[in-house]
Parts: sequence; structure tokens; C-alpha cells
Amino acid sequence: MDKQTPAHRVFVTGATGFVGRSVIHALRTEGYGVRCLVRRGSEADLRGFGAIERVEGNVLVPGTLEAAITGCDTALHLVGIIREQPSRGVTFERVHVDGTANVLAAATAAGVRRFLHMSALGTRAAARSRYHRTKWTAEEAVRSSGLAWTIFRPSVIYGRGDGFVSMLAGMVSRLPVVPVIGDGRQRLQPVPVEQVAEAFARAVELPATVKQVVEVAGPDAVTMVELLDMIGAALGRRRVLKAHVPLGLMRVMARLFHRVPSFPITPDQLLMLGEENTCDARPFFSTFGVTPVPLRAGLERMLG
Ligand SMILES: NC(=O)c1ccc[n+]([C@@H]2O[C@H](COP(=O)([O-])OP(=O)(O)OC[C@H]3O[C@@H](n4cnc5c(N)ncnc54)[C@H](OP(=O)(O)O)[C@@H]3O)[C@@H](O)[C@H]2O)c1
Repeated sequence: MDKQTPAHRVFVTGATGFVGRSVIHALRTEGYGVRCLVRRGSEADLRGFGAIERVEGNVLVPGTLEAAITGCDTALHLVGIIREQPSRGVTFERVHVDGTANVLAAATAAGVRRFLHMSALGTRAAARSRYHRTKWTAEEAVRSSGLAWTIFRPSVIYGRGDGFVSMLAGMVSRLPVVPVIGDGRQRLQPVPVEQVAEAFARAVELPATVKQVVEVAGPDAVTMVELLDMIGAALGRRRVLKAHVPLGLMRVMARLFHRVPSFPITPDQLLMLGEENTCDARPFFSTFGVTPVPLRAGLERMLG
């Protein structure tokens, strides 16, 4: 089927990011035309993607959105932040809540049929972290939009160019002893970025996913300690030496230093790392026809 007609054109926010670049590939592979919202200054992140449209805009500037979306059948909203920059007006409330409301309003005005929304596993009304609480408010706006929506809630997403596993791999490579926050026993369930992207692309025309919240994860739930050992193995390390840093000390340090961009963690991220981040991923695999990739194999492919 020719999916290049306007009815098969997908508007993507957050396309210049880690997940967004994989999503563009997946949409192109499925035959969709892709139109990306690009912030001024981020154009270079889409270098090498040939046949895609690029429109300048910002989800915090509503006036840039409606014309950008018009002519697209589907909007795929990926924009999100893990770290706030309050001095520049970049907060979870602004980006997750206001940004989503702006994109929803523009999508509705532009007559979009389908709305695919990126949330995160652990999102709930009474979450401890503001990241998760604002993702919840954004989800609620999507659910009440009247559009044919699907919400994705992934655990940690990994692959070349990611933030989390690449940072851990950097520590395992460089440090003689790797710090582990607290006892490192909370589990997470990393999923390869290509599979998240494939699911988004397939959801465009998968009626069974309309008005569904999909929890997204890989097949293996691992503790931070196990994840570090797996990363070490993928990097050819016989053993990863670890030192546990008390949670209380990390909390104090994160409060003091989280505005320093090179400090690796914020108080909000600490709250999230203190929680399990796992789910039953079988519905994700079966709904989207995804073959689970064992974490060990996925890490070897990424890092080996
Ligand atoms: N990575 C994970 O493990 C993970 C797990 C669960 C959920 N998620 C969610 O997945 C989404 C994408 O994550 P990611 O890892 O790909 O993040 P990322 O690499 O930081 O990408 C974020 C994207 O959002 C864009 N953006 C930020 N503020 C914007 C604004 N005001 N207007 C327009 N675009 C803006 C960025 O544009 P610029 O290039 O201009 O900065 C970039 O394209 C987020 O919603 C995140 O919460 C990620």
C-alpha cells in the first residue's frame, strides 16, 4: 500500500531525540510519510534522514503547531524531559502538561484522526516523582481528547545514543569501582529502542490499540546490580566491582548538585530509581508482534 498520501503522513514531536530517531526509521520502514517538528538549533540531529519533512516549531509555542500538523493523519507525541531547567522555563509541568495540551489542541484543530502518546511506566496520579505525576496529567488530557488515542508506557528504553544504559556503560568502562545507589535491588525491565519504535509505527493502523494504555518492556526484569553485571559482561569485563552509596547521602548530594548539568542524577530521578519499574510485557509482545530480545543479547548488540 502506498502510505505517502497525506492520509498516511505522520506528524512526530520529539523526532530529534533518542527514541524519535528510531521512530522515524520504523515509520519509514512501514511506508509512512513523516513530518517532524524540529526546534531551532536541533536540525543537525536529523541529518542523514533523507525523505522526511521538517517543520520548525516548539510544543511550548502553540502558534507553531497547527499549521505544522495540518495535512497529517496521525500525530505521534514523544516530547518529554527527565531533567528540568527552571531558569529557562523548562519544567515538567510546562513540557509534559502544557506541551501535551498544546499538541492535542493543534491536532484536534488540524483534524488529526489518530494520536499516539509517549508516557512512561510508573505513571500514576499519586506517584512520588513529579516526572510521573505530570506524565499522568498529560495522559488524562490525551484520554479526554476525543481523538483515537493510544498511550505507551515504557520501562527504561535502551540502544545506541540512549541516556541511561550508555551512562552506566561509561561508568563500568572508566571507573575501577561503580557506585550503586542504595541496595540496588529495585528491578527495571529495559526494552530495545527499535522495538518501542516498531510498536509506535504499527499502532498507527492497529484498531485494537485505540483507547488502550500499553505497558512496554523487555522480557527480563533485573536489579541495578544485575544490570551492571550484564553491561560488564557485554563489555568483556570479568567482574564489575561496586560500592553501595547510602540513599540518604545520595539524596543530600542530589539536592545540592542537581542543577550542575554534569551531576548524573536529580532528586526526582532518585525517587523513581527507588521504585520497581516492571510489568507483564506479554500483551505488548503479542499485540505488536514483537519477538522478545533477551536483555543479555540486546546489550551485547548495543555495546559489544
Ligand atoms: N529514554 C527512556 O528510557 C524513556 C523511558 C520511558 C519513557 N520515555 C519518554 O520517551 C520520550 C522520548 O524520550 P527520549 O529518551 O527520546 O528523550 P530525548 O532524547 O531527550 O528527546 C526528547 C525530545 O523532545 C524534544 N523536545 C523537548 N522539549 C521540546 C519542546 N519544548 N518543543 C519541541 N520539542 C521538544 C527534544 O528536542 P531537541 O532535540 O530540540 O532537544 C527531543 O527531540 C519522552 O517523553 C520520555 O519521557 C523515555
